[in-house]
Amino acid sequence: MTKHWNTIWIIGASAGIGAALVQKFVRQNPDAILITSARNADALNDLAAESPKIHALPLDVTDQTAIATAIAKIETDHGLPDLVILAAGIYSPMPVAEFSAQTIRQHIEINYLGVVNCLEPLLARMRERGSGEIAVVASVAGYRGLPKAAAYGPTKAALINLCETLHGELAGSGVLVRVINPGFVKTRLTAKNDFDMPHLQTPQQAADDIHAGLMRDDRFEIAFPPPFVRQLKFARILPYKWYFKLMRKVMGE
Ligand SMILES: NC(=O)c1ccc[n+]([C@@H]2O[C@H](COP(=O)([O-])OP(=O)(O)OC[C@H]3O[C@@H](n4cnc5c(N)ncnc54)[C@H](OP(=O)(O)O)[C@@H]3O)[C@@H](O)[C@H]2O)c1
Repeated sequence: MTKHWNTIWIIGASAGIGAALVQKFVRQNPDAILITSARNADALNDLAAESPKIHALPLDVTDQTAIATAIAKIETDHGLPDLVILAAGIYSPMPVAEFSAQTIRQHIEINYLGVVNCLEPLLARMRERGSGEIAVVASVAGYRGLPKAAAYGPTKAALINLCETLHGELAGSGVLVRVINPGFVKTRLTAKNDFDMPHLQTPQQAADDIHAGLMRDDRFEIAFPPPFVRQLKFARILPYKWYFKLMRKVMGE
């Protein structure tokens, strides 16, 4: 299957995986217009300076009015995007000793409701048109409860669940919703981790895997790297007793 997109919108494009993905699309899909969003306008402008195909459109995903304004501008300037990648996210490790409703609320606002805020207008427009593709960046951390991930993990689990619902309901509508589940990627986000991250990838490797998955076909999940994903999917089907035993071992208890 060969895919062709005229207009691609990447939200969460100012750093890390999103920025690497923009550079990957510029190299691999030179005809496509790339619209890049995040809060940091300077970082987006730096990226836009790399190619006339890249356009910076700063926004905060917690601001529904800003999202509506951005979509209206994209539609006027380029038409409704064919592909939207929702990658905006934050992460703070939260051990149980630092359990904080405020930290959890912040993660839900950006990681989960930020995606929901974008989906509302995008789904309406794409369904009206009868075509479009939306890829939501969740995480393998959404598969099962992981140590210190009490703020982050549930937002990613919720995204996977949401995408499963939408993917099924949208079947036959021409609109595709899919999920991207990366393993550990070396970005400022994971720089907060104080442990050796297994199967750690560079943002460029993650961008290669995401791009290949998006181009390959329409399958629901793009998850990588494969050996790590296999381990975690196996852990996902373990009975609780064995799963908690495994977690205690991982935590060195
Ligand atoms: N790194 C990993 O190991 C890993 C693994 C699995 C999944 N992920 C997911 O991959 C995505 C990208 O993460 P990353 O590792 O590349 O981290 P990153 O380098 O920190 O990038 C996060 C991106 O999200 C944007 N963002 C954050 N809050 C935003 C807001 N309120 N409105 C708009 N944009 C916002 C950031 O831009 P501004 O700060 O400029 O707004 C930045 O562009 C996240 O959803 C993350 O959860 C990462």
